Amino acid sequence: MWRWWRPPACSPPPPTGRGRPSPGSRTARETRARGVRFGFRRLLSSLVKTESFRASLDKQPHEVATMFDGVARRYDLTNTVLTGGQDRYWRWATRRALALRPGERVLDLAAGTGVSTTEFAKSGAWCVAVDFSQGMLAQGRFRGVPMVAADGMALPFADNVFDAVTINYGLRNIVDPDVALREMLRVTKPGGRLVVAEFSTPTFEPYRTVYRAFVTKLLPRVAGVVSSNPDAYEYLAESIQAWPDQPELAERIAGAGWSQVRWRNLSGGAVALHRGYKLG
Ligand SMILES: C[S@@+](CC[C@H](N)C(=O)[O-])C[C@H]1O[C@@H](n2cnc3c(N)ncnc32)[C@H](O)[C@@H]1O
Repeated sequence: MWRWWRPPACSPPPPTGRGRPSPGSRTARETRARGVRFGFRRLLSSLVKTESFRASLDKQPHEVATMFDGVARRYDLTNTVLTGGQDRYWRWATRRALALRPGERVLDLAAGTGVSTTEFAKSGAWCVAVDFSQGMLAQGRFRGVPMVAADGMALPFADNVFDAVTINYGLRNIVDPDVALREMLRVTKPGGRLVVAEFSTPTFEPYRTVYRAFVTKLLPRVAGVVSSNPDAYEYLAESIQAWPDQPELAERIAGAGWSQVRWRNLSGGAVALHRGYKLG
């Protein structure tokens, strides 16, 4: 039986704006978020030197899509190498957390090549992969799952149509994750569920130190050998570092309107599954 964690009953008081920010304060989170944006700008600066990428230096949705177009060719292989094969276990665990039943309708947002969608479809549910990177979708065209090219911040679906929605390692990459969380809520049926799979913060301090060193130093090097666009993995490292930890993300999901938000750690907290429900 899995243990699901929930945020403490009392949230810390809102920041006053005076003094130095505490590590968990909104000001500190904003500083980290700026770090992501800065990392993204550096990545884009390096990419615009190539003729095939004409993005501006602001983080715009089409620039995110272009970055993923650039990694699409060896994306799944790179993932499996960088995670030592654990990505398969994480996808299996996500399918279990979704508790899908045959005939249910499932949205897999930011699905990339559809590797996660294929895993979820094993349940007998009807699963659609949505992503705005044409390159990622094209790379997964052989998988035989329905695919839709669309922006997660403006989904082309009616209200209340999906039994479950999920986003796997994609929320961190969406320009405004709160808008995406609200869009996912809109298209979910009352009583339906959400599972977010995302890199997170290991709970055991010594492991956290080793993990951080891996993410910042080793990961970009290994990606340099395997990936079709190694620069994107510098962004990956920076964005993982800047992403909220488990309780902060739970608050954010609840803030978008989801109820009964809980999380479960995988691989010691390197990955967390957050689950929530749309009130019926
Ligand atoms: C790290 S990949 C994850 C792919 C897949 N879910 C998996 O588990 O391997 C992140 C994906 O998010 C997509 N993405 C980022 N922002 C998006 C948005 N606003 N709308 C749709 N897809 C988006 C990217 O195109 C990319 O394919």
